[in-house]
Formats: sequence, structure tokens, C-alpha cells
Amino acid sequence: MKILHLSDPHINSDILYKIDAQTRFKLALKHIVNNHSDADILIITGDLTHYGNDESYKMFIKILEELELPDHLYPKLILGNHDNRENFKKNFPDIKTDQNGFVQYYENFGNKTFIFLDTNLAGTDEGHLCAQRQEWLINALKKEQQNKIYLFMHHNPLALGQISSDAIGLIQKDEFKKILLQFQNSIQHIFFGHQHITSSGKYLDITFSSPRSTWQPLIPNFADRYRLGTANTDPNYNVVLLSDDSLIVHSEDFLKTEVNWFTEE
Ligand SMILES: [Fe+2]
Ligand SMILES: [Fe+2]
Repeated sequence: MKILHLSDPHINSDILYKIDAQTRFKLALKHIVNNHSDADILIITGDLTHYGNDESYKMFIKILEELELPDHLYPKLILGNHDNRENFKKNFPDIKTDQNGFVQYYENFGNKTFIFLDTNLAGTDEGHLCAQRQEWLINALKKEQQNKIYLFMHHNPLALGQISSDAIGLIQKDEFKKILLQFQNSIQHIFFGHQHITSSGKYLDITFSSPRSTWQPLIPNFADRYRLGTANTDPNYNVVLLSDDSLIVHSEDFLKTEVNWFTEE
């Protein structure tokens, strides 16, 4: 199985921080159409828009339509801190929600279950998985625990450096950790975005990965205080290859140029 994991396109009508989010999102999708239309699924893990307004969701949808992705790659979407749940739902009326109206749902692919979480809380950049959303997650995990489970969320569920420098990650880290511990035999991998950095590793017994934003790449913070930084580096998305005995995460720097495949003499 081939999974395409994009994150943080931050679509907006104006160019912010001198980087054109719309153009970069289009280039990422074009790269997918040209190189990965054999993928099984495309997921965009939040911050779909920068300000969460109606106009930006309409632009986001228009870009998807223009790029003519194969039907099976119409992306699965989740919310980030920059999104607005009500405007999102208005523009994606068919998206599934849980019984409390959060944009949480899951889908089965054979013996695999992909769970999509909603960690948005209006008015903050922090990630929140409140008691209601935790309960929904626990129920989903209980129902699907015979399967291999993959979690998709916007916010990083663990600090990616020191806890003191993680001001905007998931706030309910302890509660989330408890859930992971309870179901760590079923949960195979956690996919997230939000920090706009390429990361990978293992948390408890579960591997995780994040791509940079397709818009603005940031650089990892190894200081003991919260700070953000930009650099002249590439945005990317991840290509994840799943087999019965492996999970491989590749980064696609989709702005790369002068690609030359070696040919046999
Ligand atoms: Fe973001
Ligand atoms: Fe974010």
C-alpha cells in the first residue's frame, strides 16, 4: 500500500511571508499526479487554510478540481489549528463527523484502519483532544483493535525536542499517552503535521512521522524554549510504503529540479 501524506498547505488569497501557498500546493499536487497516481490514498493533515475563512476553502477546493487528481486520490482531510470547523463543514458537507460534531472518522482498508482525529480548538494554536474526543477515539480503537491501526492528526502528540520548547503541541499529552499505551499492540504509526518539520521516530512502541508543510518549511527547535524559525529550505510531502512487515517513509522535495534518472547503457 502506498500512502501520500501532505500537510499544512495554508491556502490563503494573499501571499504570506513571501511564499505563495497556492502555487506550492498546486506544484505538490502536480508532482503527485505525475509521479504517484498509483498511490492508494492521499491524506492532508490539517492547516488546509491559513485563516479558515470561506473564501480560502473555496480556493482549496478549486485547486483540487483544477489539478484533476484521480478520483481515488481525492484527499482525506482533517483540521488544524488554522482551520475553522464550521466553515470547513460548510464547504465539505459530505465529510463524516462524530456524534459531537467533531471532524473525526475512520476508514477500513482490508485489515487496516485509518483513524482521523480533530485536535482543533478555536482561538488557540495548541492541540486539544478533549474528553469527548478521547472517548470517541477509545471507542473506535476498541472496535477496530483486531486491525492494524494508523492514526492521523494535526498536532504532534509528543514534544519533538524538549517539553519546555513545545508550546503549541497537543496539550492532553498524558491522556493521549494513556490511550496509546492501552492500544499500542494495534496502533502501528502516528502521522501528524503542524510543526512544518520533517520528523520521524518512535513513541512508546509506536513509530511516527511528519512532513514539512507544502507551503512554508520551518526548522527544528533544539532550544529549551519555544521558538520558530524559517530557512531557505524545501517544502515536502511524504510517500509511505506499507507492506506486511515494513513501513517506509520517504520525503518528496517536490520543488526539486534537474531530475536525472540513470539509464542503463
Ligand atoms: Fe501549519
Ligand atoms: Fe498547525
